[in-house]
Amino acid sequence: MSTERPPVVKRKTVRDIGLSKGATPLVCLTAYTAPVAQILDDEVDLLLVGDSLGMVIYGFDSTLPVTLRMMVDHGAAVVRATRRACIVVDLPFGSYQIGPEQAFQAAHAILAETSAGAVKLEGGAEMAPTVRFLVERGVPVMGHVGLMPQHARVLGGFRAQGREAAEAERIAADARAIADAGAFSVVIEGVAEPLARRITADIAIPTIGIGASAACDGQILVTDDLVGLFQDFTPRFVKRYATIGEAIGSAAARYAEDVRNRSFPGPEHVFRPKAG
Ligand code: KIV
Repeated sequence: MSTERPPVVKRKTVRDIGLSKGATPLVCLTAYTAPVAQILDDEVDLLLVGDSLGMVIYGFDSTLPVTLRMMVDHGAAVVRATRRACIVVDLPFGSYQIGPEQAFQAAHAILAETSAGAVKLEGGAEMAPTVRFLVERGVPVMGHVGLMPQHARVLGGFRAQGREAAEAERIAADARAIADAGAFSVVIEGVAEPLARRITADIAIPTIGIGASAACDGQILVTDDLVGLFQDFTPRFVKRYATIGEAIGSAAARYAEDVRNRSFPGPEHVFRPKAG
C-alpha cells in the first residue's frame, strides 16, 4: 500500500484574487458543468458560473429567464468538480434588484448550497448599498459594470458602452462606487480601452475585462466562445482557440455513417456469451 499522500491543493480565495491587483493578469473563464470545470481548473485563477448559461446551455435569447435554482445547481456542480480555482456564481436577474435583504437571501442560497467563494451582481452606483450590505454580512461580491447583459433592454442591446464622454464618466463612477462598497473585484464589459485603463488605475480592486482591452488586471471569456462551441454569434472581442463545435459535428456525422452502414458496433464493441 502506498503511504504517499496526495499533494494538498489550496483553492484560490477571493483574498488571493483581490491581492493580485497590478500583478500577473488574472485568468478567468466561465464554467457551467462538472466535466468542463474539471478540465479548466488547472489553467485558470477563477471560474465564473455566469448567468450566460441561460443562452449558452439553455438556449434562451437573453439571461433574463435564468433562475436561482439553475445557478445553485450549476454552481454546485462546478465547485464539486474543482479544487484550485476560485468559484464565483452570478446572482440571476430578479434575485437581488428589489433590495439588499432580497440580495442577501439569494446570495445565502448560492453560498450555502454550492460552497462557491463569492457571488457576482450587475450594476453601478445604484447597487453600491446592496454590495455594502452583502459584504458587511460576510458575502464576498464581484461587481459587473459597463455592458450589463441583464440590462440589455435598457442599454439598447448588447452594444459597447461608454463611447461618449458622459456615459464614460458614469461607468467610471459606477466602478468606483462598487469598489468603495467593498467588492473584491469588478468585471468591466464592452468598453473602449481608455475607459478600462482609467478605471483600472482609479480603483484599488482588480478589474476583469471582457471586451475591455488588455488594460484590465485580468481577462474573462465565455468558454463556449473560446472553444467554438457556442456558434450563434461570435462577438468581436472573442478569440477562438479551438473549433469544438465542428469536431462534435464531424464525430456525429462519422458515427451516423458507421451506424447506417453497420460498421458500428464492431466485434470489439459487443459482449460475448460466456464460454461453456
Ligand atoms: O454571465 C457571464 O458569463 C458573465 C461574463 C461574460 C462576465 O457575466
